[in-house]
Amino acid sequence: MWRDGAGSHFAPPSLLSLAYNRRGVGRVRSWRLSGIVREGTKLVAHRRRRYTCKRCVFTWIATSMNANFKSLIRKFVPPIVLRGATAMIGPRRSADRVEQTGQKGAEWYDASFEASGDWSRHYTASEYYFLWAVIADRIQRAGAKSILEIGCGPGQLARLLRDKTGCKYVGFDFSQKRVEHAQKVHPDLSFVQQDAFRTDLFTTCDYDTVVCTEFLEHVEGDTVVLEKIRNGSRFFGTVPNFPFTSHVRHFDSEDDVRSRYAVFFNDLRIDKFLADAAGKTFYLLDGEIR
Ligand SMILES: C[S@@+](CC[C@H](N)C(=O)[O-])C[C@H]1O[C@@H](n2cnc3c(N)ncnc32)[C@H](O)[C@@H]1O
Repeated sequence: MWRDGAGSHFAPPSLLSLAYNRRGVGRVRSWRLSGIVREGTKLVAHRRRRYTCKRCVFTWIATSMNANFKSLIRKFVPPIVLRGATAMIGPRRSADRVEQTGQKGAEWYDASFEASGDWSRHYTASEYYFLWAVIADRIQRAGAKSILEIGCGPGQLARLLRDKTGCKYVGFDFSQKRVEHAQKVHPDLSFVQQDAFRTDLFTTCDYDTVVCTEFLEHVEGDTVVLEKIRNGSRFFGTVPNFPFTSHVRHFDSEDDVRSRYAVFFNDLRIDKFLADAAGKTFYLLDGEIR
């Protein structure tokens, strides 16, 4: 008999694998075997399929053997030996997880902009559109007149804000490539290449609303930037719940977001938006800067 992480007894994993192949992932998961099969990340990709073709069966057996091997090692090798071996070999990188490695310079954002064609598409084609539409709607309802956008990137959200709200708009970003693109594609809006930590736009620009999507998690000095915003401004910003190469932090819950940022607001509303079935989430901050 085999014992899984939760202490239930089952047949050995190899037998379970066969059962899994014949019955499909849904059935096996309902038998509470996820403790045994969780290592087989490929299985997730096959979730809605049955293993009817030979190729799938072979792929599954290979994955399963790998998972069972790891599972056996975990069960029979003392934890202290395992930790030592892992430290010597180095941290394991999962294929679908992106490491959070920290703050990047303007050149990094220039290069990442050039590497992706997504930015030149209309805002309705953006994966963030569902979130941006909420922000634009709230800004319109608030009767805003003028917007300052921090880390505006190549100007997709700027276009939506202008189309939806009719507000006066100034956006800034320290990536020259992104700002040049924004200005070229939207000549009726104003984009400036500025670093959030050096710019005087926070005091010289005319704005009653600040938009700041997917920026705060990219800089160590997020709170320094919030302190620069004029008191009484309405603020709309988003932060994520997942790591990324250029993220210096991410958030696990609304409380997590609140405990870092509430002090900068008179009234902070935080709404959670699910972005995919795997749990990718954005938190929308909406409040008046104190
Ligand atoms: C993830 S992108 C978000 C772009 C846009 N706000 C959006 O939601 O699509 C982060 C942006 O912040 C900009 N950025 C990062 N650090 C900055 C800084 N110190 N000053 C100005 N812009 C910065 C980057 O160039 C990049 O365009």
